Amino acid sequence: MTLNTLTPNSRGRTSPSQDLACSSSLCRRANFLPSRLWCSTDHSTTWNSYDNSHLSLDRFHEYLAARGSLTEPDDPTFNPYTWRFKQDGKVVWEIMAQDPKRLKMFQMGLANMEASVPIVGFYDFGKLDTSDDRSILVDVGGGGGQSIMAIMDAHPNLASKPEKFVLQDLPEQIALARAAGRLPEKVVKMEHDFYTEQPVKGQSSSLPFCDSRASLIDSPNAGARAYYVRRIMHDYSDANCTKILKRLADAMTTDSVVLIADMVLSATTHEADMPAVAMDVAMLVMGGKERTEDGFRKVLEPAGLELVKVWRASFGAGALVEAKLAGSTV
Ligand SMILES: C[S@@+](CC[C@H](N)C(=O)[O-])C[C@H]1O[C@@H](n2cnc3c(N)ncnc32)[C@H](O)[C@@H]1O
Repeated sequence: MTLNTLTPNSRGRTSPSQDLACSSSLCRRANFLPSRLWCSTDHSTTWNSYDNSHLSLDRFHEYLAARGSLTEPDDPTFNPYTWRFKQDGKVVWEIMAQDPKRLKMFQMGLANMEASVPIVGFYDFGKLDTSDDRSILVDVGGGGGQSIMAIMDAHPNLASKPEKFVLQDLPEQIALARAAGRLPEKVVKMEHDFYTEQPVKGQSSSLPFCDSRASLIDSPNAGARAYYVRRIMHDYSDANCTKILKRLADAMTTDSVVLIADMVLSATTHEADMPAVAMDVAMLVMGGKERTEDGFRKVLEPAGLELVKVWRASFGAGALVEAKLAGSTV
């Protein structure tokens, strides 16, 4: 089975799909886009690749000339996307939200690409179980909480301890997650900006607004067992990733791990790497990028973290990069 016969089902796992049956001329002609691999019946991924990625790169040479520099775009508010809309200084999402149709299509496209970075099936989250009061996993920038749901689904020993999972995101996303009601009530839903001090580090006094404080009162100086960041790092430049990771490192204890779920590019790319390479180009538009294993080391090390292992999914470039505090013996 090849990659282009796989699409996510509702649980984010892959199955033989209707992809090949999709004969829309737009999808057929967009063979050079990621849509070839994640084509969906609503065509939102194709539309997104064209509208958000290709149109923003159409005048890339003019963008570079206007910037007067040949360096890679690395600023969330100053990149080919913000330049295209003449709105430097705003983040991409803010600009996208000005056009509800564009935002909706983007969200549908993102959902269709769930399987590009699988959540479970290749890493044993079960081993993160704790017998004390510590949090098991903090999903940083976790969106709707689909990762927490998938992890609890796949690991019954963790599913019985929802109060030891924390979903963190910006206030709007946390409000949406609460309203959706899909996560177990006891999962802690916490407003948190990942550029600021990480509150889950065993000190109850610094906790921001969240629904359940008691479960987060850990033994002194005990960070969570795992801080999980999925589909976040590829949105940002190396310097910004290191800032985000440094906040996690500051909250960790010697047996904590950071788990980065993202695509991991091969050092040398081949035809099979096309989806990841196409995604790398798409991320360039907003000042981000996909990374190789060495690329991840480059953002982890200045944050005081050490790459332990790259756990690869059974297909595609989706992977989980495990890291610990430099010098610690997890
Ligand atoms: C591409 S989505 C990934 C969501 C989720 N991790 C997933 O895999 O589907 C990026 C997420 O980061 C969140 N985010 C963006 N900036 C943030 C910040 N400064 N602090 C916390 N979350 C942020 C967004 O609200 C969004 O939910």
